[in-house]
Amino acid sequence: MNANALETTAKALVAEGKGILAADESAGSIEKRLASINIPSTEENRRAYREMLITTPGISDFISGVILFDETLRQKKEDGTPLPEVLSRQGIFSGIKVDTGAKPLPRAPGETVTEGLDGLRGRLEEYFALGARFTKWRAVITIGDGIPSKQCIDANADALARYAALSIEAGLVPVVEPEVLMDGDHTIERCYQVSEVTLHSVFHSLFEQHVPFGQILLKPNMMISGKDCPVQAGVQEVAEASVRCYLRHVPAAVPGIVFLSGGQSDEAATAHLNAMNAMDAGHPWQLSFSYGRALQAPALKAWAGSAENVPLAQKILFHRARCNSAARSGSYSEELEKELAAV
Ligand code: 13P
Repeated sequence: MNANALETTAKALVAEGKGILAADESAGSIEKRLASINIPSTEENRRAYREMLITTPGISDFISGVILFDETLRQKKEDGTPLPEVLSRQGIFSGIKVDTGAKPLPRAPGETVTEGLDGLRGRLEEYFALGARFTKWRAVITIGDGIPSKQCIDANADALARYAALSIEAGLVPVVEPEVLMDGDHTIERCYQVSEVTLHSVFHSLFEQHVPFGQILLKPNMMISGKDCPVQAGVQEVAEASVRCYLRHVPAAVPGIVFLSGGQSDEAATAHLNAMNAMDAGHPWQLSFSYGRALQAPALKAWAGSAENVPLAQKILFHRARCNSAARSGSYSEELEKELAAV
């Protein structure tokens, strides 16, 4: 795989008006999501749910790539078509979550390091053969009393860089995800402080591992107040602090920043992205989305595990994807949000 092919894929994933749907919930996370609609997490229910998402009519107008879980990459649509092919026929890239989860970091109470490097080279080759064209690895940084520690940030940054280098070697665009969690009562200033140290460490490690910045996408948190902070920063403040932080710490060669939603409400995630793109900051990278919950939550609720709800759930997903697509150019509005009422 030559460098140009990876750069082309990375740029296509952040093409104008498009973003990524993260549907790569691990076994534990999808079990929780399905439990919220009283559905058991059987292989068939997981398959039917993900098929509903990726067969949404017209979704390729707004979605450039879908991140899948190992099981999903191997599953088929009811008519026998492999799910990665269902996506490629619509011009949508298949992505794959390749880490094996955040595990307790030794001698660092309350902190984790993401694992999954052992055997990764072989798994990446297989994923490419199954049709994947990009990958994701999520590192988790928790804010709390006396944490995060430097050892946690650096261990995660090092693993992200090792993963990214292996991914590029296998011809897959790495989506590098250092997530500073919004859990806690910290202020937006504290989130900024931790995020900048994290981004600095991640790009230092990527450089040390010879990762070409033009062939990756960054998937960070936004600068946001902790969920339980009594003072919640407004939309404009979140947008300005976020763009300021990335301008200082994300190299211009990176084609795109694709946000996680991290527990924000679906409308807040859209509004924040919109405000960033509406600013005239002259930023060198695309600012886009790679949302999981903020794209799926209302569609999951409407689906409720029943085939007869599929058309309604798909209309709701289409609407959220359309709103986020508008946010890519700063043209999302309350009027557009309300158009769902017409569904
Ligand atoms: P959320 O948007 O729900 O945070 O999920 C994005 C993701 O892929 C986390 O790894």
